Amino acid sequence: MKVMLVGGGAREHAIAEALCRSEGVELYAVMGNRNPGILRLCRGVEIAKETEVEKVAEAAERWGVELAVVGPEAPLCAGVADRLEERGVPCMGPRQRLAMIEGSKSFCRWLMSRYRIPGNVRYASFTDADEAAEFIDSFEGEVAVKPAGLTGGKGVKVMGEHLADREEAKAYAKQVVEQRIGGGEVVIEEKLVGEEFTVQAFVAGGVVKPMPAVQDHKRAFEGDRGHNTGGMGSYSMPDGLLPFLGEEEYSQAVEIIRKTAEALRKETGEDYRGVLYGQFILGREVKLVEFNCRFGDPEAMNVLSLLDSSFAELCMQIAEGRLKSEPKFKRLASVCKYIVPKGYGVSPAPPAEISVDEAAISREGALLYYAAVNQQDGRLYTTTSRSVAVVGLAESLEEAERIAERATSHVRGEHLYHRRDIGTKELIERKLQRLRKLRGE
Ligand code: GLY
Repeated sequence: MKVMLVGGGAREHAIAEALCRSEGVELYAVMGNRNPGILRLCRGVEIAKETEVEKVAEAAERWGVELAVVGPEAPLCAGVADRLEERGVPCMGPRQRLAMIEGSKSFCRWLMSRYRIPGNVRYASFTDADEAAEFIDSFEGEVAVKPAGLTGGKGVKVMGEHLADREEAKAYAKQVVEQRIGGGEVVIEEKLVGEEFTVQAFVAGGVVKPMPAVQDHKRAFEGDRGHNTGGMGSYSMPDGLLPFLGEEEYSQAVEIIRKTAEALRKETGEDYRGVLYGQFILGREVKLVEFNCRFGDPEAMNVLSLLDSSFAELCMQIAEGRLKSEPKFKRLASVCKYIVPKGYGVSPAPPAEISVDEAAISREGALLYYAAVNQQDGRLYTTTSRSVAVVGLAESLEEAERIAERATSHVRGEHLYHRRDIGTKELIERKLQRLRKLRGE
């Protein structure tokens, strides 16, 4: 089967590997960078902007692909699934109207409140900075200020973390509106406190099949300090839960996803076909932080490395709206660590050559996923975003962490760093203590 992948990051490399593990897949890709991991798996590649939906659809037609799998949110929000389906190519990834669940944070909150979906927060959205300021002044408690549209995961600012007080919150809301950050609409929400976790689900034809829970680490530096990034690494546990997340809270998260998929169907009259990603926070109760219309990055590396079913078959069932297979996951722990250029997320170091000893990483027992790097004349160069991800899988979290950590030493470059603490006992114990304190336990 000819399958086309859209996207060129580590998430897409993990998607490509998972597709190629399925029998009979011939892979093609459209991506903005020359990802060496994806390149070597493909029969054909087009280097193009992934949001140029016409170009993407033309490539699909030229290659005669029978299925498209879209990694990032930007092409989905730009309507790539609609365009592909118009040309008769089934797409794993929702249509534009449905991708709004990620493309507009105000639509997401509105939908949740209209359909009385649990886990919503107090919020309001504005396109006028003065009205936003008035709302912030009158709001009981601290707020989060979020550009409504896409900002690559870096637009959210929270009082007490990135914003010192109400004045700074108002100033940032004004900046979002006036500088049209993420489109110029701003969402003001109640600040949520607790431990964040991710639950992703395969969704199609009214069927929702959840995947193991994962915890991502957004902060740039060890100890969960520093600015927010797209994610520095993540872990999951053999039982699909997390050290702080029980069966009951996991089920509540899945229920929120299920109700949202149903609400999207009622509201748009269209079938959501893709991955619905819920980012949740567990404090006194489970609340939704945001929805994404695709796999998480890095969370895709955890779940797809564990997937023990034919991914190509699952994708085809989803794209055709007849999801019936039960996805199976290995009962192992997974730890993913991203190696990134210094300054990633704020002022990244200029592109520089790096070396990756693939054989040594494999000897450590780790998996390797290339991210936003470029292969040129047999050499590998960083870009402004994350460079390489390594994943350890093992029966215990400790062992999975050790495997991933050892693998990081085989990725070398002058300006690279990673978080050594992701998946360690010490960090998880601190998280558990913080949560117990918050819940008064
Ligand atoms: N891990 C965060 C995201 O994929 O948006």
